[in-house]
Amino acid sequence: MSRDQKFFDMYSLVIGVLAAIALAILVLAMKMSDLTQGVYTRDTAEYQAAIANSIAPVGKVYLPGEEQEASGPVVEAATAPEPVAAAMTGPQVYNSACNACHGIGVAGAPKLGDAAQWAERIAQGMDVLVRHAIEGYQGSSGFMPAKGARLDLSDEEVADAVDYMVSESS
Ligand code: HEC
Repeated sequence: MSRDQKFFDMYSLVIGVLAAIALAILVLAMKMSDLTQGVYTRDTAEYQAAIANSIAPVGKVYLPGEEQEASGPVVEAATAPEPVAAAMTGPQVYNSACNACHGIGVAGAPKLGDAAQWAERIAQGMDVLVRHAIEGYQGSSGFMPAKGARLDLSDEEVADAVDYMVSESS
């Protein structure tokens, strides 16, 4: 009987000590986290900002005469970029303004790619061809409207188109 009693006393003592140690560790851990949490999380700008953000009032009331302070991101009025009509390349100009006549040879227009029809014209020299294309002219086979009647084209664009036509037709 006395052995059982001894065992029981010892057992209680061990359990008690273990429980006390566990409690001490728990208290110590709480204390430590209390001391260090602030340093690592609660004092950081992100954490503070997140709190301020989540407890911020949904709306604000401005009394008459009160300046509305800039809250939230100020959206700059997007300045529309200057519409710069990008100059078209020779082939682009040709396709949009010249192909209608020069593609199949409408009304006496020399056909693109037809070297025979172009040889004599090319012999006049590029300056003349470009001038005729820009200013338009009445030739023996038909009427070439100035810039192919596309007066929105720049002289350079028309010249590039002539370059392209000549290179395709010689
Ligand atoms: C409405 C029809 C038409 C359109 C569109 C047109 N052409 Fe012509 N083009 C002609 C005709 C017709 C001739 C031939 C005139 C002649 O020699 O009698 C011609 C001739 C030319 C010549 C030869 C000039 C020469 O001195 O022999 C060039 C270069 C030319 N065109 C360039 C162009 C270019 C570049 C465009 C587009 C920007 C264009 N053409 C659009 C009808 C057109």
